[in-house]
Amino acid sequence: MKYQVKDIKLAGQGENQIAWARAHMPALLAVEKRFAKEKPFNGLRIGMALHVTKETGVLVETLKTGGAEVSIASCNPLSTQDDVAAYLAKKGFAVFAYKGENKTDYYKFIKNVIAQKPHLTIDDGCDLVSEIHLNHKELLKDIIGGCEETTTGVNRLKAMEADNALKYPMVAVNDNLTKHLFDNFYGTGQSTWDGILRATNILLAGKTVVVAGYGDCSRGIALRASGLGAHVIVTEIAPVRALQAWMDGYRVMKMEDAATLGDVFITATGGKHIINTHHMKKMKSGAILANSGHFNVEIDVEGLEKMATAKKQLRPFAEEFTLGTGASAKNIYLLAQGRLVNLSAAEGHPSEVMALSFCGQSLACEWLCDMSLRAPHGGAKQSSLKPAVYTLPKEIDDEIARLELGALGISIDSSTAKQTKYANSWREGT
Ligand code: ADE
Repeated sequence: MKYQVKDIKLAGQGENQIAWARAHMPALLAVEKRFAKEKPFNGLRIGMALHVTKETGVLVETLKTGGAEVSIASCNPLSTQDDVAAYLAKKGFAVFAYKGENKTDYYKFIKNVIAQKPHLTIDDGCDLVSEIHLNHKELLKDIIGGCEETTTGVNRLKAMEADNALKYPMVAVNDNLTKHLFDNFYGTGQSTWDGILRATNILLAGKTVVVAGYGDCSRGIALRASGLGAHVIVTEIAPVRALQAWMDGYRVMKMEDAATLGDVFITATGGKHIINTHHMKKMKSGAILANSGHFNVEIDVEGLEKMATAKKQLRPFAEEFTLGTGASAKNIYLLAQGRLVNLSAAEGHPSEVMALSFCGQSLACEWLCDMSLRAPHGGAKQSSLKPAVYTLPKEIDDEIARLELGALGISIDSSTAKQTKYANSWREGT
């Protein structure tokens, strides 16, 4: 089957959504314009496991404009925008995704992408790469490289590299400054609250919000919560980050202690069981739990299910769990089944910020091609890079920022020859 989507009749709506995203992603459109002339991916197949959103739709079209044959599965069972998937299917892309996938379909769809025999892979979370390495080793020889979008995926790749298990070069797109300083911070900061507020419509002013973690994503979440009038508590395991959170003006404590104080809890750590049943037992009745980390393991949902005496779906993305019985019973609310709340209950990061991330993906694919030797028929032969996790050269990161500044109509200064000489010298002091 060339595609599997929820309803192909949603294609018209999907086309409008992609038009909206395009209007807010000028830097990516500039890359697409160049790709239309240079066709860097002629003869190549690109397989993707990304959130199937309107922004990803624009990336898919950009890669196609560059000459690639593109196939895509979702990288999360709850994040697909069904209208966008339908539009891509109608345009002839091999797309396998619907919102609410079960685990069987999730992996079947990733295998469908693998069946297209990609020369390049684009992942968000490393499920496509790990599936190829575990169960489709025969494809490894024809893959020239891959790109990874997110912190969790890069961590998995580094674990593969340390295990000597990684068999083709990977670009950690997440490590671009133009990715994590913007997407993770501003994107997650805004879209997490978009998801929580769409799911609950609670007033944030005056609430106590507990943010687990103080990386780029959690810092954005804490900042926006504070901007909406919440009292923010941060929990961390890394001492430097904990200190940073404290000096940014937040209370810092153990989850154990924060559990009794919070009205809303958000995890964005990349870790497992950051909120466990022991913490849940200590929480106030009415506490809301949401996750913004890549996988649905940060909140012990299974433990909550087991411990609950009753559960009820109160709103589309808000489930009520009752703990205990009688006078001592209390309710805990879990959003989006503990999956990425921003992509499940809302639309993920806004297009403006995804333009930067997806310029990174597009230029990372081009860089991998530049680093590879082409077979005479135009297909990929092999990469000159050894299997490892790579960061893109600084010039490419700078190019992305310049494209975005250009799109925003912002001019910046450049260093004079004298200034450059001074900056690179050591003789001149006070
Ligand atoms: N990750 C977070 N937001 C996203 C979006 N809008 N599209 C694709 N991936 C995302």
